[in-house]
Amino acid sequence: MSERIFIGVAWPYANGSLHLGQIAGCYLPADIFARYHRIRGNEVLMVSGSDQHGTPITLKAEQEGKTPAEIADFYQAEFLDCWQQLGITFDLFTTTGTGNHAGVAQDIFLRLLEKGYLYKDTVSQLYCPKCRRFLPDRYVEGTCPSCNSPGARGDQCDACGKPLNPTELIDPHCRICGTTPVSKDSEHFFLKLSGFQDRLEKWVEKQGQWRPNVYGLTTRYLKEGLKDRAITRDIKWGVPVPVEGFENKRLYVWFEAVIGYLSASKEWAKLQGKPEKWRPFWQDGIKSYYFIGKDNIPFHTLIWPAMLMGYEGLALPHDVPANEFLTIEGRKISTSKNWAVWLPDYLSRYDPDPLRYLLSINMPETRDTDFSWREFVRRNNDELVATYGNLVNRVLTFVYRNFNGCVPEPGELSDIDKSLIKNTDSFLEQTGELLSRCSFKQAIMTAMSAAREANRYLDEKEPWKVIKEDRQAAATSLYVALSVISQLKTMFYPFLPFSSQKVHEYLGYEGKVEEYGWQPQPLPPGQKLREPQPLFSKLDDSIIDEETKRIGT
Ligand code: MF3
Ligand code: ZN
Repeated sequence: MSERIFIGVAWPYANGSLHLGQIAGCYLPADIFARYHRIRGNEVLMVSGSDQHGTPITLKAEQEGKTPAEIADFYQAEFLDCWQQLGITFDLFTTTGTGNHAGVAQDIFLRLLEKGYLYKDTVSQLYCPKCRRFLPDRYVEGTCPSCNSPGARGDQCDACGKPLNPTELIDPHCRICGTTPVSKDSEHFFLKLSGFQDRLEKWVEKQGQWRPNVYGLTTRYLKEGLKDRAITRDIKWGVPVPVEGFENKRLYVWFEAVIGYLSASKEWAKLQGKPEKWRPFWQDGIKSYYFIGKDNIPFHTLIWPAMLMGYEGLALPHDVPANEFLTIEGRKISTSKNWAVWLPDYLSRYDPDPLRYLLSINMPETRDTDFSWREFVRRNNDELVATYGNLVNRVLTFVYRNFNGCVPEPGELSDIDKSLIKNTDSFLEQTGELLSRCSFKQAIMTAMSAAREANRYLDEKEPWKVIKEDRQAAATSLYVALSVISQLKTMFYPFLPFSSQKVHEYLGYEGKVEEYGWQPQPLPPGQKLREPQPLFSKLDDSIIDEETKRIGT
């Protein structure tokens, strides 16, 4: 029976290009997961969009002398282009700048207000006397009260990950001019998170499917006790607060951005011409997955669930498979220091699948992992080209030339033939099992094992030699190899969709890989092949130096 799967993916701030850390962190795993479920015949809704509000955007706009909207529109277009090229298949990638989003966010706000989960309070807030403005969280920097690291921002400490209020910072200063801010009163709405403490504890306890890092961090926050959080700000850029007297304030970006999952689902349904179609994806009991980086965990395991509990009637996250971080050449990514590999830059020079391969087999699932150009070249050449690509190319080219461009007719299968086929089927099953548990690295390693076993089989059978004495024997082992390749293209499909589609076509199948399902596929003898081309290309060692030099300059 087909299942319904909702996939929400973190909303990237529209203030800069995407980098490989974000891809490895959430976009690639989400896409792998979506493709896996789609090929299984499940109904998937995968949404995200650019996070257009908040100080990351206004800071950037101020730096560049542009409006926040100009910045957001520019990056929205760039993101869409990147998804297309890298094969990240959102059902909808929208933005938080739509009227639909504002409406849904205000609806949630008003419902929470009506049910007593929001309250008004006067807060003394940091105000820069020199800049003459209230300072948004990110405009204040100081020392983290939790881990004592300097350079913590008013919204969060990057060193320990703790979400903060700017007034908690030790020794705060204005990020624009360096002045020590003063306190000034302002009225704001608060989300009564403390009121959800018990319900959240009971709910979190039952989430045994969460990764240990996600579960651990969440329970740590619960043990510390949840504090109410202000959800409005003294700014002009953002979703208006639907309450009289609050015309000059906006909803806090984190409060409304998570609502994007719901507003995007509704927008998607409207675009389908079936405005109610989002509902089944939000019903209780639905399996919803939120793919995010580890810095976003508490927002998805505590705050968003609290909002949903308060709203009532919508499904809470089933799993939040947050990844750890990707480092670049051994160092933490820093976008301001240009210590990053930018996705548009990568895509301007290389194919998508080699990157998808490397980031899958080296995914920061349970610990931080490193990206280096040396490893990229090595894994491309030694694994993708030498193991999988070479297997496909040598078999397909040989068959194409020697069997009239058609799948050969096999003779009777030997035990060795049968056992290779059986093992491949079981690799396919294992890969699927691992994918369904969001164990992406293990899954692609399993698929690679299947390719290695096929290579060993061919080294033993040597159809290229055998054909001279026994054409039928060669035909049989080539037939077996082609069948295995057909299974491999399915196994690799979630990870390497572009090359899987090519293999699918070379083997003479019609349509899309995805239409054939996650199962061993019959390969009819006599099926007409299409002329094969090399699947991947070897990369020259010289690019290691060339590319490494671009980082950090
Ligand atoms: N824009 C935030 C970030 O990049 C992520 C928001 S995820 C969301 O860290 F769900 F809250 F939108
Ligand atoms: Zn200032």
